Amino acid sequence: MNSSIAIDGPAGSGKSTITELVSRRLGLFHVDSGAFYRTITYYLIEQGIDFNDEIKVLNAINCDLLEVIPGDGVFKILLNGKDVSDKIRTREITKAVSPVSAIGCVRDKVNKIFRRLSSEYNIIMEGRDIGTIVLPNAEHKFYLNASVDERAKRRRLELLEKGEEFTFEEIRLDIQNRDHYDSTRKIAPLKKAADADEIDTTSMSVEEVVEDIVGRIKKSE
Ligand code: DC
Repeated sequence: MNSSIAIDGPAGSGKSTITELVSRRLGLFHVDSGAFYRTITYYLIEQGIDFNDEIKVLNAINCDLLEVIPGDGVFKILLNGKDVSDKIRTREITKAVSPVSAIGCVRDKVNKIFRRLSSEYNIIMEGRDIGTIVLPNAEHKFYLNASVDERAKRRRLELLEKGEEFTFEEIRLDIQNRDHYDSTRKIAPLKKAADADEIDTTSMSVEEVVEDIVGRIKKSE
């Protein structure tokens, strides 16, 4: 059986950076589940599909839309054969992705891919429902959290580095809205799994969090 580690937490809790570094330390494939939801959101916007019409959404995604190519410890996601990874982290996609990820047929589509990846590779997967729904039998589960202010500060810096400038208040509000949407939706809401270790990263450095996680994993081996 392949080994799997689940990392969950709200937007800006440090999941992506931490998962990337832990994956390299432990030689696991990093699966960024949010990137799959973002890629589908990008596609629906590009095609002008109304997210509120689930039948139209189902018809639009009911084909071999996504291809997953294993690379150097990560998976490249291709949308109809094209790499759109540099287009899925804009504020527009970030604002639209929560409602798209709450659609049942969208979750079914990506969960099928996740199940295949976890049966074929040793993975560390980050998201919102990984420890609860996608990998309930993961060997290790972590739930990362941080204060809303700290998470907004991190997201603002990330966007600034990409040339997108928004006020702290705008980003803070986006994050609060997304937290609310992701944790109150009916299907697979953001939730800490009962058997996950919670880590508050508010005043921890990236290195400290990585050491903490790697240490806990090694200790239990
Ligand atoms: O981690 P992220 O910000 O890239 O995730 C984008 C959105 O995708 C997030 O607002 C909720 C959704 N998501 C989800 O519903 N389930 C996951 N396992 C991962 C992400």
